[in-house]
Amino acid sequence: MDRLKGKVALISGGARGQGAAETKLFVNEGARVVIGDVLDGEARKLADEVNQKAGSRVALPLHLDVTRADDWRKAVDACEREFGGLDILVNNAGILNTKGIGDTNEEEWDAIINVNQKGVWLGMKIAVPAMKRRGAGSIINISSIYGLIGSGGSAAYHASKGAVRILTKTAAVEYAADNIRVNSVHPGVIKTPMVDIFEERELDAIAALAPMKRAARPEEVGYVVLFLATDEASFVTGAEYVVDGGYTAV
Ligand SMILES: NC(=O)c1ccc[n+]([C@@H]2O[C@H](COP(=O)([O-])OP(=O)(O)OC[C@H]3O[C@@H](n4cnc5c(N)ncnc54)[C@H](O)[C@@H]3O)[C@@H](O)[C@H]2O)c1
Repeated sequence: MDRLKGKVALISGGARGQGAAETKLFVNEGARVVIGDVLDGEARKLADEVNQKAGSRVALPLHLDVTRADDWRKAVDACEREFGGLDILVNNAGILNTKGIGDTNEEEWDAIINVNQKGVWLGMKIAVPAMKRRGAGSIINISSIYGLIGSGGSAAYHASKGAVRILTKTAAVEYAADNIRVNSVHPGVIKTPMVDIFEERELDAIAALAPMKRAARPEEVGYVVLFLATDEASFVTGAEYVVDGGYTAV
């Protein structure tokens, strides 16, 4: 119950899907969470639900577009002002399209790179000074199995998620002396609104490529993110955690 007691987390894209699962898991373990998302209504609804269940204000919804430095500054300020500091950043916000290299136009390329890649860099850059003020921190960057292997489509998505993998290792080296750990998580097929772009049988066919032959629930990633956020992972940094039912093992 108390694995994150006294800790404050900022979760980008925290309003739904995996981010919402992590919000709930973190709060259950004693953390207070700022839910940063562009989906203001969904973030508010989730915060109301979580706060009502907890009987106190443990979650705060906040408008955060991860491509905007100003929004990040406001989010980090809110963590310090409302909850007293910032210990954990989950760079979870992400967008997907399935277009290949030839089909992707510049606008689509930039949109994916801005959210999935630049957003992670900006988040770390702006959150780290607050973590240094706390004397420690844990950053979890959500990449994908598509940051590790190719698929023949989703060109910008692959490029962005591969960048997140190596940016994570670079950050782990840069911030080790500050007692800030930085790790990446690489989910396989997870049942969230992101994969609604696929028809059910398409999604089943992709999920069947993994030895476990199914898609995962968001919590199945959330528990790994939770572990990395806690002090139980005190010697884990620069690591990549695959959560994919064996997809990349074959
Ligand atoms: N679902 C999968 O199969 C899968 C697989 C591998 C990796 N991932 C990654 O997991 C992460 C979470 O995705 P999910 O599956 O929960 O999907 P999701 O679409 O349910 O959630 C993504 C969240 O990011 C938010 N977001 C999008 N653009 C944003 C922006 N500019 N600023 C702030 N928030 C923004 C969305 O509003 C949403 O709440 C993403 O980084 C995604 O790429 C997902």
